[in-house]
Amino acid sequence: MANTLPHLLLIATGGTIAGRAARADDNVGYRAGEVGAADLVAAVPALAGTALRTLQLAQMDSKDMSNALWQALVQTLQTELARDDVTGVVITHGTDTLEETAFFLQRVLAPVKPVVLTAAMRPATSLQADGPQNLLDAVVVAQTSGARGVLLAFGGQVHAGDEVRKVDAYRLQAFDSAPAGPLALVEEGRVLPLRPWPQGRALGAAVCERPLAQWPRVGWITSHAGFDAALVDAAVASGFDGLVLAGTGNGTLHADLEAAAARAQAAGVTLRLSTRCASGRVVGGGPRGWPVSAESSPAQARVALLLDLLAKTATPSTPRSISA
Ligand code: SIN
Repeated sequence: MANTLPHLLLIATGGTIAGRAARADDNVGYRAGEVGAADLVAAVPALAGTALRTLQLAQMDSKDMSNALWQALVQTLQTELARDDVTGVVITHGTDTLEETAFFLQRVLAPVKPVVLTAAMRPATSLQADGPQNLLDAVVVAQTSGARGVLLAFGGQVHAGDEVRKVDAYRLQAFDSAPAGPLALVEEGRVLPLRPWPQGRALGAAVCERPLAQWPRVGWITSHAGFDAALVDAAVASGFDGLVLAGTGNGTLHADLEAAAARAQAAGVTLRLSTRCASGRVVGGGPRGWPVSAESSPAQARVALLLDLLAKTATPSTPRSISA
């Protein structure tokens, strides 16, 4: 497409923000990813005069997010953000894996222009629909002078893409980025900055260019009472390259998980320690000197490990044998 007047690009991927239920009072029995990008914009009268181009990249429930869509998002963003006439991007996304996509995009691209994700906890058909206001706020943030990086505009707050996590399964105020807190507030179309915009270094889009079949296989296993080590042994035998171990507290692991993880490491699996606690990071070292994730959620720790392995030399996954 030839360059045009300066405008924002809206990339729609689905989610509850594009969800549709049979009744307006049904906030749970809906299908995510049904309403198209143009209709999402049309539901916000205040966007009528905004220079906005829409791109429907997917129409999915984000619980099913895939490496393929992440790769497509990176390719699309790399092309679009390089255009002089694209001043920023808004991405509509499901809330369920939003923290993973936001983290992934920030680490890979760390864009100088704003890439503002937004979402909703209520479908577009709901009496309580929060999507239109969140979309309007996302556009306001994307138009804010100096705004940069991958961000989430949600519930009147702006969070850093690599710090945010979903903290509630149902309530409208579903995201938090403790302990640092939001970067800004959005009130009646005004952005009130609280902290500097993200400045991180990009890994670079080339890290995602490898064919999907060669992407490392990285899983996340949570320690719990009565842990069954067969879960870890099965992951190793089927060729996982990396495992995040979410400990019960400050990185503490069930003894059977620890022993199985040691076998996994001996078989060549890269380990990273996290915590299943709702907030906080593992402080100090992990058992057996295993590296601790700098990220606060196991979901983002898994993406960080995936990216670390992607950045290393490509080696296709192969089934491994476990040494006892
Ligand atoms: C989804 O993540 O796509 C569905 C749930 C939501 O958006 O809240």
